[in-house]
Amino acid sequence: ACAGSALAAPVLTVGTEPTFQPFEFVDARTKDFVGYDMDMIRAAAKHMGYQVKFVNMGFDGLIPALMTNNIDAAAAGMTITAERKKKVDFTRPVYQSTQVILVNKSDAGSVKSEKDLKGKNLCAQIGTVGAEFGRKIPGAKVKAFNTLPDTILELNNRGCTAVIADKPVVEYFLKQRGGRNMVEVQTGYPKEEMAFAVRKGNKKLLDAFNKALAAMDKSGETAKIHQKWFST
Ligand code: ARG
Repeated sequence: ACAGSALAAPVLTVGTEPTFQPFEFVDARTKDFVGYDMDMIRAAAKHMGYQVKFVNMGFDGLIPALMTNNIDAAAAGMTITAERKKKVDFTRPVYQSTQVILVNKSDAGSVKSEKDLKGKNLCAQIGTVGAEFGRKIPGAKVKAFNTLPDTILELNNRGCTAVIADKPVVEYFLKQRGGRNMVEVQTGYPKEEMAFAVRKGNKKLLDAFNKALAAMDKSGETAKIHQKWFST
């Protein structure tokens, strides 16, 4: 060990699936992990006295990786659900979301809500709430993809009628990434809360996270990070 190692902050290993702009993505130029969650994690880690190491993995691999001790936390726009709460613990919410539908403009007239998706081919990211909701639509077939951009590509290629995904991500895509031939359709799906996940029973880390997040809310850091990724 080098002379400085005793002073280095301990490492917090954080799993993410970085194809989910503006929550987490890889900056094309710097190759850095960037986005709302990434900034929130870096700020929280600073409060807690950790340095962060991000690990890129499949979205459906995050909870198993937590359970097997391969990562300390997951930061991936992950919605708090009853099912997931059986396996991991969630911090206080860091964002509010809901699911929406993305369709090609040519289908905008016939798809007005999730009720119009019965019997259709749908695209969603593996392991997400969007995929789960799609599977509950009578007669619908869900094609599941590893990344969100893959679902949008398939929609563009007419491999499915609709993508079900998180509203802020769909809106960011339409605003920043083009998608001029696509439109967003609202749904009756409930409000969701996203949070960071930690290993079940890791009370020490959970408490530290919640303390850090509360301090960030109070100091205005959260608002600043929110403003950075969700304004305009
Ligand atoms: N909020 C949704 C869920 O929890 C989608 C999250 C996808 N996140 C990602 N980094 N790809 O199921």
